[in-house]
Amino acid sequence: MAWYEEAIIYQIYPKSFNDSNGDGIGDLEGIRQKIPYLQALGINTVWLNPVFVSPQVDNGYDVANYYAIDPTMGTMADMERLIAALHEAGIRVLLDFVLNHTSDQHPWFQDALRSRDSLYRDYYIFAGENGRAPNNWASFFGGSAWTAAPDASGQSYLHLFDAKMPDLNWRNPNLRYAMGDVAAFWLDKGIDGLRLDAFIHIAKADLAQDFPSTQAPVLAEPFIANLPAVKQWLRPLVSRIKSDYPETFLLGEAASADVPQAAAYTARDAGLLDSVISFRMFADDQKGDDLRLPALYQPKPLAPLAFKQAQVQWQQGLGDALPVLYWNNHDMARVATRYGHHDPTASKSLAMLMYLQRGTPLLYYGEELGLENLALPATAYQTDPSVALFIEQAQAVGYSAQQALAMVNQTHHLAARGPMPWTAGVNNGFSPQTPWLSDGQQAQVTVSQEEDANDSVLAFYRRLLQLKQTALFTRGKEQLLATLPSVYAYRRQLAGQAAVVAVNLAATPATLAVTSTHTGLAVGAVSREAHQLTLGAYAGAVVTEEGKK
Ligand code: NOJ
Repeated sequence: MAWYEEAIIYQIYPKSFNDSNGDGIGDLEGIRQKIPYLQALGINTVWLNPVFVSPQVDNGYDVANYYAIDPTMGTMADMERLIAALHEAGIRVLLDFVLNHTSDQHPWFQDALRSRDSLYRDYYIFAGENGRAPNNWASFFGGSAWTAAPDASGQSYLHLFDAKMPDLNWRNPNLRYAMGDVAAFWLDKGIDGLRLDAFIHIAKADLAQDFPSTQAPVLAEPFIANLPAVKQWLRPLVSRIKSDYPETFLLGEAASADVPQAAAYTARDAGLLDSVISFRMFADDQKGDDLRLPALYQPKPLAPLAFKQAQVQWQQGLGDALPVLYWNNHDMARVATRYGHHDPTASKSLAMLMYLQRGTPLLYYGEELGLENLALPATAYQTDPSVALFIEQAQAVGYSAQQALAMVNQTHHLAARGPMPWTAGVNNGFSPQTPWLSDGQQAQVTVSQEEDANDSVLAFYRRLLQLKQTALFTRGKEQLLATLPSVYAYRRQLAGQAAVVAVNLAATPATLAVTSTHTGLAVGAVSREAHQLTLGAYAGAVVTEEGKK
């Protein structure tokens, strides 16, 4: 069994975890100081969002130098010390591998702009003439995916994300090899795996082809995602990595991949990835949406039945690979805000529901406290024009600016990237300085307070992760049980052991029949009479078969 089949991953957003040098920005040394906390939590792997030299247009996903640490995060010596200390503590390390694009400040792009004859011109995707974009494709960050090159060529360059993040040209074998060198450099430093950022986008359709649409520009997903060449170009990279570093865990971010596509990326004989993170894991109930407004920033509850359908497809459809089990990450609102009803009981039972399933838990720092999105001021969103537009649209149909901002704060990913609240002290012990992102309020929950309380969300996560590490919950088979739509229940089974995990996703109590008769870990109001299990509001329980644990 590969080590990563037992991984419990903790995602650290380094800017927001712990600031050791008092500049208001989290750093590598700050992470190192918190290793005992990570150990006590019960995770065994960390994934760090990008820490490389970057102008920080997209919080580090715009890399200007893959081979050096951004000065705000520390130095290469800090990184080496952190890797060694994590390993010493029995924790593996995954780094973000940003392979679809670089920063426009990357020397390759700067050289590419110098002349059409630059050796690096073909590392990027230049096309069109007389300043006209070659097609109608849109960027994920809004507007056209093309920007006129700041040179005399008349060409434009492609950027699926920000204009300051030009896409790399994976058709070019030299570029492909150069990206392999980047991976090798970090694996040589001893890291244990890579999270491949946006890898599904490295292949693009014919640039001369518009995507049929009445709007321009248009998100041309079928032209820019999951095309066959993605696999063709990844395979040699993966084979180079795996032959030199066979234990490496390759975790791809496959945002829009559906189950069959994800299965193809992770099939054991495909020579590609070990696991993928898909964004198609959730289902929201849109019924309460105000149809006069865009759906994007309207908070929505979980749609239990559709959510179960999504989860069971991932459980059933991946073949050998393990599903990645997560509730949130830096690209979405925090789970306690999205689905948690601001209620610690719900935070606990959602964790129970998700992480005891078959698959690899991937926690987002702070969720183990039941941490919520920040209540940011409108000025925090200055770099995202979609926010001002939404607030304007909401005001036009009668919402106050405050109400509209509250909706944004509950749904926006930026509000999910707040500093980790360690103590009740200045800036919650994150930094002596005002943090880089802050709503100016004292956090409702802190690590020190939760460490002292036996019934805290943190204490529950610690117990839950211990249970997750047992063979039944790591390797057992899973079967979703037929229950009321609002009850999420499944059975795990391994050799002579079996357990049912049941969670009530509604505020009204629910009863279900269980063959098992020993109640283990429980959350909220749980009662059992013989084979009848009753779960109160958002309650959950693990029940094991009599005589078995
Ligand atoms: C996915 C990352 O998770 C996201 O934060 C980033 O903006 C894009 N990839 C571009 O790198």
